[in-house]
Amino acid sequence: MLTGKRILLIIGGGIAAYKCLDLIRRLRERGAAVTPVMTRAAEEFVTPLSVSALAGEEVHRDLFDLTKEAEMGHIQLSRVADLLVVAPCTADLMGKMAGGLAGDLATTLLMATDTPVLCAPAMNVRMWQHPATQRNLAQLQADGVAVVGPNDGDMACGEFGPGRMAEPLEIVAAIEARLGAGPLAGKRIIVTSGPTQEPIDPVRYISNHSSGTQGTAIATALVALGAEVVFVTGPASVPPPQGVQVVRITTAQDMLEAVQAALPADAAIFAAAVADWRVAQVAESKMKKTRGALPTLEFAENPDILATVAQMGDGRPGLVVGFAAETDEVVANAQAKRARKGCDWIVANDVATGTGTFGGADNTVHIVTGDGVEDWPRMAKAQVAERLAQRVAEALGG
Ligand code: C5P
Repeated sequence: MLTGKRILLIIGGGIAAYKCLDLIRRLRERGAAVTPVMTRAAEEFVTPLSVSALAGEEVHRDLFDLTKEAEMGHIQLSRVADLLVVAPCTADLMGKMAGGLAGDLATTLLMATDTPVLCAPAMNVRMWQHPATQRNLAQLQADGVAVVGPNDGDMACGEFGPGRMAEPLEIVAAIEARLGAGPLAGKRIIVTSGPTQEPIDPVRYISNHSSGTQGTAIATALVALGAEVVFVTGPASVPPPQGVQVVRITTAQDMLEAVQAALPADAAIFAAAVADWRVAQVAESKMKKTRGALPTLEFAENPDILATVAQMGDGRPGLVVGFAAETDEVVANAQAKRARKGCDWIVANDVATGTGTFGGADNTVHIVTGDGVEDWPRMAKAQVAERLAQRVAEALGG
């Protein structure tokens, strides 16, 4: 809930501005007050009348409005808010924010404030991918601006890719997370993700196909519900999510140490594909190829991080969730794994060749708990993550 919170909503000039009407409604449903500000370009897409009708407040549009300057002033306007939200945040607005320009009311408010800022970028794919936009994004993040989206998808300009503004409910979740108001506010959750790499010698290693997509999506969904997330990741092929504490590791042993160092936690979710074995004796220099002689590698067992944490007694997180990647007898194997490892839930998925789970966008999972098995339909990994995060929030009493 956002009762008692005031959001200063800066609407930029992009086609996604129409989604702001819904965003305003969603915010007000949750008890927030919305002070709307529109750029000149925004007025080409939605009318100030619709915005003020939904917000129940006057729309601020002019920097040089003498009456308002006498009454309150643009500086005050930004400071009485709990959060400034820029949606849609166009490439132009991003550039101005990153460069510190203040030529109109919206940008002046952003410069004059000491209140946290969240922006929801929306633009054409090429504009989003342009090095200038990416530079501006990095600058804004370095300045402490939180960012939600953009999402991949069909765009009004007929292209496909990243650039669609986050949906209103995603923006609401990001607002709640930023204000510490989500159901997981105050909860600390460890998420492991990606593969581990076990060295053979200084140039070679053993690893697996895990991309880190599912673990990253889970961390994102937990942050959206307000959790403080420690994200312990191996060398994954997708970038870590925004808004988490990232701990990068290479081997299973490193991962165990990083997880132990991150305790205590309210929950721990082990989505990493940890190598079961490491090479017992890592060669100090590169192993040479010798004609006719094949090397023999001896293996040692890696620590089982999930089992170690699930069975630790004192200081064990209240909820410990493991994953089971199986190619056959998915549910039966997951049930046995849950009992063997001592964790609370197992998220089981089928990774047999042809399922496209490894590195793919979708996943079909079964949630194995002490109460039985839930079969979830095939859905995007991001949706699996959101549903799982909701379940975690319920389990932790959020
Ligand atoms: O035993 P298996 O590897 O199938 O178990 C998978 C689950 O255990 C995953 O949640 C994985 O992150 C975790 N695991 C672990 N440490 C290991 C092996 C697996 O945390 N060494």
